[in-house]
Amino acid sequence: MVGSAIWRALKAKGYSNLIGKTSAELDLRSQQQVSDFFQTEKPHIVIDAAARVGGILANSEYPYQFLMENMQIQNNLIDFSLKADVEKFIFLGSSCIYPKLAPQPLKEEYLLTGALEPTNEWYAIAKITGVKACESIRKQFGKDFISLMPTNLYGPFDNFDLQTSHVLPAMLRKFHEAKVKDDSIVELSRSEPVELSYDEPVEPTCSEPVELWGSGSPMREFLNVDDLADAVVFALENPLKESLYNVGSGVDLSIKELAELIQKIVGHTGEILWNKSKPDGTPRKLMDVSKFAGEGWKSKITLEDGIRSTYQWFLENSDTLKEVKI
Ligand SMILES: NC(=O)c1ccc[n+]([C@@H]2O[C@H](COP(=O)([O-])OP(=O)(O)OC[C@H]3O[C@@H](n4cnc5c(N)ncnc54)[C@H](OP(=O)(O)O)[C@@H]3O)[C@@H](O)[C@H]2O)c1
Repeated sequence: MVGSAIWRALKAKGYSNLIGKTSAELDLRSQQQVSDFFQTEKPHIVIDAAARVGGILANSEYPYQFLMENMQIQNNLIDFSLKADVEKFIFLGSSCIYPKLAPQPLKEEYLLTGALEPTNEWYAIAKITGVKACESIRKQFGKDFISLMPTNLYGPFDNFDLQTSHVLPAMLRKFHEAKVKDDSIVELSRSEPVELSYDEPVEPTCSEPVELWGSGSPMREFLNVDDLADAVVFALENPLKESLYNVGSGVDLSIKELAELIQKIVGHTGEILWNKSKPDGTPRKLMDVSKFAGEGWKSKITLEDGIRSTYQWFLENSDTLKEVKI
């Protein structure tokens, strides 16, 4: 999702000579393959949007892969970028690097001030080593290596697989499927042509109910992936004073408010059932984005516009959505 958004943003700004590889073409865990790649392609700029990603279940089943593969991917890219003297290196991390009980909103200075959320500490520790590697290169060699920590992202090419997806794409899919089920029932019951009189108000049909996890009270922040890509291009084009920056919209909303917004956009008219036996997670997670704002970047895509365009993308690509296994 992130890599393709950055690619679109670079293309839109007229950048050419871009090199992008799938993991099948270049396995970044392999030092040899990364070494060969740098020798052949000689990149001037490297943006690391590759990672083994996943939710709580995947992290708890495969802690070693989450720790080791992420370190291998970033270590190879960071070290060969240093040796090849690349002009700029951008490392993408995540808000999970901050301590579980850090004050909100999360400031960059809270890094390593407390214990991590245990469910994803493997992934978080790998990301922290990436942040520190970039910081140490900046400190020791004065090179332009920076780390951007995005908040929760959503957008085209997101994971809509209900077994493994994040909250926003999962809600989009659930509301859509409940609505479509209802539409198809209406279609079936209208197999005979119906004469509609415009004088009589048509009763709105009620969609299937949608069940969502938790109470709906936790507060979360979301950023459209095209906004993140814009931030990456900004970081690429501007010299930044420090090595670590949060990237977010700077505003949060409750999961209940998010559900109602998605329901409106999708056109679902049924009930929302909150399954309070499921965990809520941390009550609030919001990034403090003032440091990056001080450099001159701020989010431009509103949550409503971003969800509308993502829903449009989902409708146009529902036949080819990726399945993401644990
Ligand atoms: N999604 C979010 O909400 C979010 C939030 C904060 C930060 N981020 C960060 O953004 C970055 C990208 O996440 P994403 O959401 O775009 O995930 P994604 O859609 O799953 O993309 C991950 C990418 O990593 C590549 N990759 C994985 N293992 C690889 C390997 N061994 N060699 C080469 N490439 C490999 C994958 O390539 P193939 O598809 O070819 O296998 C894929 O393109 C991650 O660092 C993540 O921490 C994401």
